[in-house]
Amino acid sequence: MEKRKIILDVDTGSDDAIAIAAAVLCEDIEVVGICTVGGNVEVKNTTDNTLRVLECCGRGDIPVYRGAALPLASTLQPWGLQAAVLPRTEGKIAQEKAVHPDHLPLPPTQLTARPQSAVVWLINTLLESEDKEITLVPVGPVTNIALAMRADERIIPKIKEIVLMGGSHDTYPPTQASEFNVWCDPEAMEILLQSGVKITMVSLDATGHACLDRNQADMIRAIGTSPANLTADLIYQRLKASAAEGDREGKGVGAALHDVLAVCAVVHPQVLTEIDHTSCHVDLGHGYAYGETVLGRNYKFSPMPKNCYYAKKADSRMFFDWLYGVLKE
Ligand code: BDR
Ligand code: CA
Repeated sequence: MEKRKIILDVDTGSDDAIAIAAAVLCEDIEVVGICTVGGNVEVKNTTDNTLRVLECCGRGDIPVYRGAALPLASTLQPWGLQAAVLPRTEGKIAQEKAVHPDHLPLPPTQLTARPQSAVVWLINTLLESEDKEITLVPVGPVTNIALAMRADERIIPKIKEIVLMGGSHDTYPPTQASEFNVWCDPEAMEILLQSGVKITMVSLDATGHACLDRNQADMIRAIGTSPANLTADLIYQRLKASAAEGDREGKGVGAALHDVLAVCAVVHPQVLTEIDHTSCHVDLGHGYAYGETVLGRNYKFSPMPKNCYYAKKADSRMFFDWLYGVLKE
C-alpha cells in the first residue's frame, strides 16, 4: 500500500498526543509535517507537547510549525477557559485541565519548532505538492487551515481531502450546542466547509465509539515501548478525569480517543460505519447555538449542496485493533 501523505494540525492535548504517535508510527502513513494551534492548551504548550511526543516516538525528524494562538474572529477563549455564551464553571475548568494539563507526562525535549509560521509553511508546501497529493488531518481548531485558504486560494485544489475531528449532532458537547474544536473557532470551520474540498467530519457522535477501557490500556502498556506507555498513561489520565463528570464519553465504555479515530479513518475509512453525505454548516450567530454544526435534515430533498461526509458511528473493535497493531509494529 502506498503511504498516505498527511499534514497533522494539532492542539496537543492528550488525545492529540496519541493521534500523533499513531500517525508517525503507522507504516501506511507519511507525516509530512505537523502544525500546532491553540486549543486544549495555549499554542506554546501545544507546540512543546507535540515536540515531546515526537521525541518519545523517536521521530524528531518530522518538522513542527507553530500556528495560530487565537481564533479568527470569535470571542470565545481558545483553550476552553471561558465561553461568551455559556460561561465555564470552576468545576468545569478543573475537569478540562485534568483531561488536558498544560504539559504531557513526558520529559522536556531539546527539539524545537521550525522558525516558519504554520500558515506560511502550509501554503508553500501545498503549492509545491502534486495535485491531490496531501491529506490534511486537523484534530484541533482549524484556524491555520482557514487562514491558509483565505491567504492563498490556490492551495484549495491541491488538497486531496480533509479528514478532521470535529462537530457533533446528538452527543453532549461542551456548550450544549458546539463540539470543542468547532466551538474554539466556528468561523474557521465554516471557511473549510465552504471551500469545496472533500471533507470527512469525524464527529463526537462517531468518536463516542472510539473508547478504550483500562483492560485495553493495560494490553497496550504490555507492548513495552515508550509510545505504548505514553498511550496507556494518557488513557488512564482521561479515564480518571472523565469519571469526575460521569458518562460524558457517550456511547462507549472508557476514554474516547477522538483525534485518534480521525487518523485511523485516513487509512481505514471503513472504521467509520455510518456516514451521512450531507450539507453541514456552522451556526455563526452569537446565540445559544453559536458553533453548532447544522446538518441537512432532509437529506434527499435538502436544497443545500452536500459539502460533507459526516461520520456518526465507528467500529470500536476495528479501531482498537488498528491502534494496538500500530503501537506494536
Ligand atoms: C476534541 O476536543 C479536544 O479536547 C480533543 O483533543 C478533541 O480534538 C473533542 O471534542
Ligand atoms: Ca484535539
